[in-house]
Amino acid sequence: MIENDKRRTILLIITMICGILAFLSVLKIPQKGYAKIRSLMKKEVVVYEEKIDIDGLDEPFTIFFVADSHICLCDDRDKESKEICDKRYQEFIRDSKGSEKNFSIVMDYVRKEDPDLVVFGGDITDEATCASIDYFKKEADKLSCPYYLLMGNHDLLINGESASADEYEEIRKRYDFVRSDRSAYNIERFDHFNLLLLDDCNNQVCNEVGEAIADLEKDGKPVIIAQHVPFVPTYGDSDLLLRTNDVWGSAYLDYSRVLMGEHANLPNEATSKLIDFVSKEDGLTDLIMAGHIHFYHRDLMSPKTVQTVTPPAFERGVIKITLY
Ligand SMILES: [Fe+2]
Repeated sequence: MIENDKRRTILLIITMICGILAFLSVLKIPQKGYAKIRSLMKKEVVVYEEKIDIDGLDEPFTIFFVADSHICLCDDRDKESKEICDKRYQEFIRDSKGSEKNFSIVMDYVRKEDPDLVVFGGDITDEATCASIDYFKKEADKLSCPYYLLMGNHDLLINGESASADEYEEIRKRYDFVRSDRSAYNIERFDHFNLLLLDDCNNQVCNEVGEAIADLEKDGKPVIIAQHVPFVPTYGDSDLLLRTNDVWGSAYLDYSRVLMGEHANLPNEATSKLIDFVSKEDGLTDLIMAGHIHFYHRDLMSPKTVQTVTPPAFERGVIKITLY
């Protein structure tokens, strides 16, 4: 009798388990759970490589260019950005991970590669929140090589707006651990090349860049440029205008609102000067690294000047440059 009761109870439990599993299966919950776990496990980094011949360089020199991580974190210090931050956070989730997690995966990869230099090419944060900047600092500080930061169009936003004149100094201070200067450009001088770092000035380069060009021409070393917004390529056939319009849209097919140059954001005097400088056939510029458009692209600005655009770090993209 007791044996029969036991059997009946076991049968009842098995039937209930089967029923629950069948119910969950109809709702596709096990499949969704499995897909989510698989998605969370994805950690591969998308790396595009570029090799650039630099006159007189004795040993290879490796640079990683990381841009567009769009870290959107907020804490009690960031009350004014909370709403926009929470909304934007959802937009940058990839493979079930927030943008800060995908940025960390890229940084793990970069550290393992032990480069000579890392350049952060703008839109590292989606808003200048203290929480996002702290997160970036924590990752950057783990690097054992020097690193530089240039500003993209997002890095100084507060609540989706550019910082006002009153707010600017306070906001900019948050980046002092990596950039304590307030200049719109920096020239980092190496033995065999100069690295020009340019902040974004509303899809243009800033007016002071004319001085940088004069300085670089006087120095005469090969030049590498890091900027946020790419140029419309000036040499050979290029489909970059069409590709950006596919992704970002435009009222006119032959006009891009996310690039700099002809048929794009009308270049100011400084931007025009820079385009002339990088497009010279026998000019100094060997490489331009950019981001902003959120997909990989490679093109030419002159027979020798390569423009390479990194895929975004929020999709675990990065560019590795080997100078040799
Ligand atoms: Fe971006």
